[in-house]
Amino acid sequence: MKLFSGMRPSGQLHIGNYLGALKNWVELQKKHQCIFSAVDYHAITTPFNPKRIHEAVKNLVLDYLAAGVDPKKSIIIVQSQIPEHTELAWILEAITPVSWLERIPTYKEKLELHPKHRNLGILAYPVLMAADILLYKATLVPVGDDQMPHIEITNDLARRFNQMFGKTFPPVKGVVNEGMGARIMSLTDPTKKMSKTGGEGIALTDSPETIREKIKTAVTDSGREVKFDEKNKPAISNFLTIHHLFSGKTIAELEKKYHNKGYAEFKNDLSEVIIKGLADFQEKRKELEKNPKKVEKILADGAKRAQKIAEQNIKEVKIKMGLL
Ligand code: TYM
Repeated sequence: MKLFSGMRPSGQLHIGNYLGALKNWVELQKKHQCIFSAVDYHAITTPFNPKRIHEAVKNLVLDYLAAGVDPKKSIIIVQSQIPEHTELAWILEAITPVSWLERIPTYKEKLELHPKHRNLGILAYPVLMAADILLYKATLVPVGDDQMPHIEITNDLARRFNQMFGKTFPPVKGVVNEGMGARIMSLTDPTKKMSKTGGEGIALTDSPETIREKIKTAVTDSGREVKFDEKNKPAISNFLTIHHLFSGKTIAELEKKYHNKGYAEFKNDLSEVIIKGLADFQEKRKELEKNPKKVEKILADGAKRAQKIAEQNIKEVKIKMGLL
């Protein structure tokens, strides 16, 4: 079974990206043929700095490697280096009803964030994502739950293409974390997901001091009981989730441990758990940073391996459509 996933090189990865997706990638690569991408063509749909984007791509790949993505097992690519992604995106755009795209929640969110950036790329974003996945006939896509509407569109498009031109693409399954972590919330507003754009997240590269400061000043709920209750205690529930995912302790164990102890002690311990949980990653990343050539080599090798699959599949698509 083939697996595809990607992340935008648009700012430092945070623990939401890690706990919601990247950690799963590392596990899943043990069992599946995987392709992981830095999706730079997605990153240019919102404002970006041309002087920094390539550096951001390399930083993202360093994050993948430091987290444990193994370039010997998995293929790592930069989306813009495989032109078939945009070729298939155009083909799929030709059969995408605009109404499907207008009702996607991430489209509305992005317009709210960038009201002056009402461009076609933001609207067509999920079609490029569908192309990323379908280009390799991937059937598994590990993501956070914010991406599920895009997976639905991917399936809708695959079905539509198959109906119009003959069976080509298999159905796709979005793999979200079972249990918890599919949506880590912001530290400053626990009703919103943690995102790369604001300072409301913990970056994977944050120093211990920064992590302590961010957790200390993070918004908490009223009351003082450490209890998992997403509706009435969204901040504490989010902290419990993060603690659980880094420490492996169950929510019930944590509730018991901090019963009658108040939020301050819980938050102090949470900082230490996060610092410890990121230590290996940070150490490995520092090591990898010393050898930037290695990343270039991994990407060149990934491009070569991915290109072969992409060429073959796009050819099939064009033959089915009568273009070849
Ligand atoms: P991106 O770059 O916004 O996020 C990368 C991954 O991190 C997950 N994620 C989260 N998980 C839990 N809690 C959070 N607060 C949180 N924030 C982000 C995202 O769900 C995602 O899995 N459209 C994608 C990139 C993409 C893609 C693809 C993914 C392009 N083509 C093909 C899979 C397959 C995106 O913007 O992810």
